[in-house]
Amino acid sequence: MKWIITYLTSSIGKKQIMGCTGAFLALFIFGHMCGNFQLLNFDQASAQASYNAYTEFLTGFNPLHFPVKMIYLVELVLVAAFALHIFLAVKLKIENKKARGGIEYEVNTRKGKKTFATFTMIWSGLFILGFLIQHLMMLKFGEHYLYLNDKGEIVRDMWLTTIQMFANPGWAAFYVVSMFVIGLHLFHAISSAFQTMGIAHQKWTPIIDLAGIVYSVVVALGFGITAVASYYLANQPETQALIEKSRSLQPQLEQQKAKADKAAFVIPSVGEVQVSFNIEK
Ligand code: HEM
Repeated sequence: MKWIITYLTSSIGKKQIMGCTGAFLALFIFGHMCGNFQLLNFDQASAQASYNAYTEFLTGFNPLHFPVKMIYLVELVLVAAFALHIFLAVKLKIENKKARGGIEYEVNTRKGKKTFATFTMIWSGLFILGFLIQHLMMLKFGEHYLYLNDKGEIVRDMWLTTIQMFANPGWAAFYVVSMFVIGLHLFHAISSAFQTMGIAHQKWTPIIDLAGIVYSVVVALGFGITAVASYYLANQPETQALIEKSRSLQPQLEQQKAKADKAAFVIPSVGEVQVSFNIEK
């Protein structure tokens, strides 16, 4: 038990945990970027269908029929990884500053020079935290629209929430800037993570550095292109008409969903009994 505490409180332990949580987050980001490519479709009615099917699949995925949906477990791990990553980053920053007697400088030991990304690591990280708060408030916990899919089910219209946000030039520009910052953060994070893991090799280090650059550029460009293209597509007359149509269908879909939810209401202890309530005001 003592060795765990020693490891967790050591500088190298903290850096390695930061590296592992960062690697997990980097993998999530890549998958998320690929999923969002479904917005890139000139036929936005198909984009609406496929994007909603994709987000419905992610939120409903539970092949082993766990009592708790898989997405909640994934979200728990994501939040824990983010929280640990940020906490350790700030803690290391404070400890490093103290060790240098309060002098603010950072040196990339491998290259022996200060880099823009190294210097801005903590600030780009805090910016990403701000971006994430906006991102989740606006999309995940944002306006909840409904959509009737081709199986006749009423699901969340995540496409409508997302495309309406990107129709706004201010939000589209904010995303492009955020993606640049995320790229910068990832670029430095990858090479420094491998360095702290003790992988500094004449042959492998330049390859890892290159892979880090490629990954950061791909992710920043992938998300950035999605934001710019979504802005363009969202402002096309056909998409605007589809947005209007989808919005006008909301009262009807809400009624249909309320009816379907009422019909499917089952008392577990009684079994498959359908009940309905007449609530009088
Ligand atoms: C063009 C850029 C992006 C688009 C269109 C986009 C879209 C979305 C949407 C629609 C959701 C809600 C999904 C749902 O609740 O079903 C979401 C969730 C999320 N996004 Fe993004 N995203 C983008 C960029 C990013 C970036 C760069 C990050 C990370 C730095 C990120 C991290 C997250 C996280 C952590 C969640 C919550 C996942 C969950 O609860 O399962 N997103 N995103």
